Amino acid sequence: MILIVGASGAVGIPTIKALVKRNADLRALTSNEKSAANLRDIGVGETQVGDFRSNDDVKRAMTGVDSVFLVTPRFTEDEAEIGLRVVAAAREEGVGHFVFSSAFHPQMTKMNHHWTKLLIEEAVIESGLDFTILQPAMFMQNVAVEWPVIVEKGIYSRPYSPDRKMALVDTADLGEAGAIVLTEPGYKGATFELCGPDSLTQAEMAAILSGFLGKPIQAVQRDLGEWEVWARERNWSAWGIDTYLKMANHYDTHGYPGGNPLVLRTILGREPGNYRDFAQRFVTARK
Ligand SMILES: NC(=O)c1ccc[n+]([C@@H]2O[C@H](COP(=O)([O-])OP(=O)(O)OC[C@H]3O[C@@H](n4cnc5c(N)ncnc54)[C@H](OP(=O)(O)O)[C@@H]3O)[C@@H](O)[C@H]2O)c1
Repeated sequence: MILIVGASGAVGIPTIKALVKRNADLRALTSNEKSAANLRDIGVGETQVGDFRSNDDVKRAMTGVDSVFLVTPRFTEDEAEIGLRVVAAAREEGVGHFVFSSAFHPQMTKMNHHWTKLLIEEAVIESGLDFTILQPAMFMQNVAVEWPVIVEKGIYSRPYSPDRKMALVDTADLGEAGAIVLTEPGYKGATFELCGPDSLTQAEMAAILSGFLGKPIQAVQRDLGEWEVWARERNWSAWGIDTYLKMANHYDTHGYPGGNPLVLRTILGREPGNYRDFAQRFVTARK
């Protein structure tokens, strides 16, 4: 039995789909009944509605599981606390394999949501459990957020320079790699950076998307003040806004540098997906 914590997001869903294809026995801790129903629809055998901020709920979900797949929520101030709670419960239960989906370059101290992941990685390593840590690059699928404006106005707007290179990964590959790590022997005791073959600027991504959409797309740098107003209107926490702004500034200076597909290629046993293939699939699905 594999327990998924943080099930319904950009990492959880593709990982669950890949695990279901491998007939894995799955339990998900999920925050609400609507997500629970969706998770059962895509093949999760057992759902427990509960809160990853509750010791009791996490312990209950952990009972009798062999492995854990932990995904912590994005831009969340108590991300490390949530992660440490799950690690502690897994340790108490004595699970056979703890897999944490972290992020590429968690050692970046200037980005809050990276070093919160580093604290969780530290707890995972010190837990005494068999572990695997996955460090995915930027998700190609993030463009879904801007897609309606791209289609309507032909503008791909992000709050950092459109000319910085970003290391990328297709979340379908990330999900498949997670499922392989969880269900096949040979992956314990390691930290894997997971990157696709492309490191692209926003402008280069816009050009590729434009080819498949059949109309021009201009990559522009979104004004940070305007982004902040947008985030406040959507009830982002002060910590979340500060963290996002720090990330935007870091990307503006450095991009998301590096990125090597060797590890992901080895785990998948094939070439990881490139941006062009992703873009074709993404645009075709929305036409
Ligand atoms: N975007 C990128 O390019 C990128 C790149 C590398 C790493 N990352 C990291 O990847 C991680 C995962 O991102 P994501 O989009 O999958 O995360 P997410 O959707 O923000 O959070 C994961 C899931 O946690 C569950 N959840 C929320 N509140 C809960 C609660 N109180 N109790 C129990 N479960 C709760 C939700 O599923 P339910 O509805 O089922 O409860 C949610 O979908 C983030 O930490 C992010 O920083 C992102």
